[in-house]
Amino acid sequence: MEFKKNILGIGAGYVGAPSMVMIAAKCPDYKVTVVDINPQRIAAWNSEELPVYEPGLEELVRQTRGRNLFFSSDVDKEIRENDIIFVCVNTPTKTFGAGAGMAADLQYWEKTARQILENSQSSKIVVEKSTLPIKTAQAMERILSSGKGDITFDVLSNPEFMAEGTAVSDLENPDRVLIGSRETPGGLAARRQLVDIYARWIPPEKIITSNIWSAELSKLVANAFLAQRVSSINSISALCEKADADISEVAYAVGMDSRIGAKFLKAGIGFGGSCFKKDILNLVYLCRFYGLPEVADYWESVVRINEYQQDRFIANVLQSMFNTLAGKKICVLGFAFKADTGDTRESPAIYITRKLLAEHADVVISDPKALANAASDLADEKGTVRYVEDPYEAAAGCHALAVMTDWELYRRLDYRKIYKSMVKPAFIFDGRNILDHRHCFDIGFNVFPIGKPSLTRF
Ligand code: NAD
Ligand code: UDX
Repeated sequence: MEFKKNILGIGAGYVGAPSMVMIAAKCPDYKVTVVDINPQRIAAWNSEELPVYEPGLEELVRQTRGRNLFFSSDVDKEIRENDIIFVCVNTPTKTFGAGAGMAADLQYWEKTARQILENSQSSKIVVEKSTLPIKTAQAMERILSSGKGDITFDVLSNPEFMAEGTAVSDLENPDRVLIGSRETPGGLAARRQLVDIYARWIPPEKIITSNIWSAELSKLVANAFLAQRVSSINSISALCEKADADISEVAYAVGMDSRIGAKFLKAGIGFGGSCFKKDILNLVYLCRFYGLPEVADYWESVVRINEYQQDRFIANVLQSMFNTLAGKKICVLGFAFKADTGDTRESPAIYITRKLLAEHADVVISDPKALANAASDLADEKGTVRYVEDPYEAAAGCHALAVMTDWELYRRLDYRKIYKSMVKPAFIFDGRNILDHRHCFDIGFNVFPIGKPSLTRF
């Protein structure tokens, strides 16, 4: 079959694969290929056991794979054969050299740019889908224009706003799609081509266009604003615990103001995930670079409050359990950074588990999707950690439950049965405020929510 367009995604991760799968599903007349330098990842995408868990993704892959969606390890060949290239490689926080711990590590990004230049035999549209520091497109253009001959490259910025756990519905029905370009005839023509792809399934009013720097910056700012809301409510949860107010009631009352809105006001153990911390630190680094230390400090405080919230949680566990955890068994319910994903990158559960182990507690970790990642995150730990998928089995014989992930299944467990199997006095530290606290207290637990009065018998 002759396809109308040939589209390539470079980077078969949490963003690259689902976003390319969605294009393939919505545009059966386009050929969509996804490549990665990691051959195991490609093999997994070609297998029955996909490397990423996302509700609804498996069905879409089954529908499209082999029809107009292909996964391959031959990056060079696919660059040659495709006209529109979405670059979705990872851009983690730098761990070395200048800007270590703050700036984005652009090595994967730059390698891809050079690989595109080396292998291109015709003009291409190169789309930044990864989250990048402002002005990265300029660096990309400079690399791509260093070749000889009359091949041209138009660089667009099309940041991805999907969230994990809801990737399929976010990609199918996004709040908006943002496309930034140079305002030159070539840039505008490339922008129109990308708009045409999204217009296949997204209403025109939701496809917004801008200059390329605004698009790059908007992604960092959107994540910073979302994370800021979480830190704002978490900071107030500390005050609620001191002042006998209830954070859920405060969040509800505040969120009813339509100017503020109700979303992203759930207090908990702090935000995790591969994006928020990395992108805020990147923003902070950029502000310092451009000589704006006050702006940098303002945004950095969002990350500080997130760390404070996790330290507060640990301090509360220790203090409530009579200031010693040594030899006690703690069941960590949930290890993923949020529900409906197996991803544990930057999950607060990692930090909290390490702190529990540092207190010489024995930890039993339960999670429906994230146990393999949990085991690799804690591979260097010397303390006693067990991984048990069944939550009842995990909790049996424990002194305390610590809820780390807002999995729906944890709301519906039989806590009476769990209580019976635990050491008394039994404790619940609900780091996500998802349980029925009064019910658990009535069963016999001592219950410690976030930002609400604790329910104890002492
Ligand atoms: P990821 O680590 O899951 O995937 C990146 C993939 O790129 C990896 O499989 C890696 O092997 C591959 N790769 C690296 N260099 C390559 C190269 N030169 N050629 C081919 N493949 C290469 O990362 P992710 O979570 O998908 O994030 C990718 C980008 O998208 C990041 O910039 C991130 O900030 C951004 N983003 C992520 C999310 C999210 O929810 N995870 C949401 C929006 C934006
Ligand atoms: C985020 C952005 O939402 C998304 O637009 C962007 O493309 C990538 O980064 P993601 O990290 O996948 O997505 O998940 P998100 O739903 O934003 O949650 C991030 C963290 O904040 C999770 O740990 C979540 O549990 C926490 N959170 C979220 C709260 O603690 N309270 C809330 O009210 C909302």
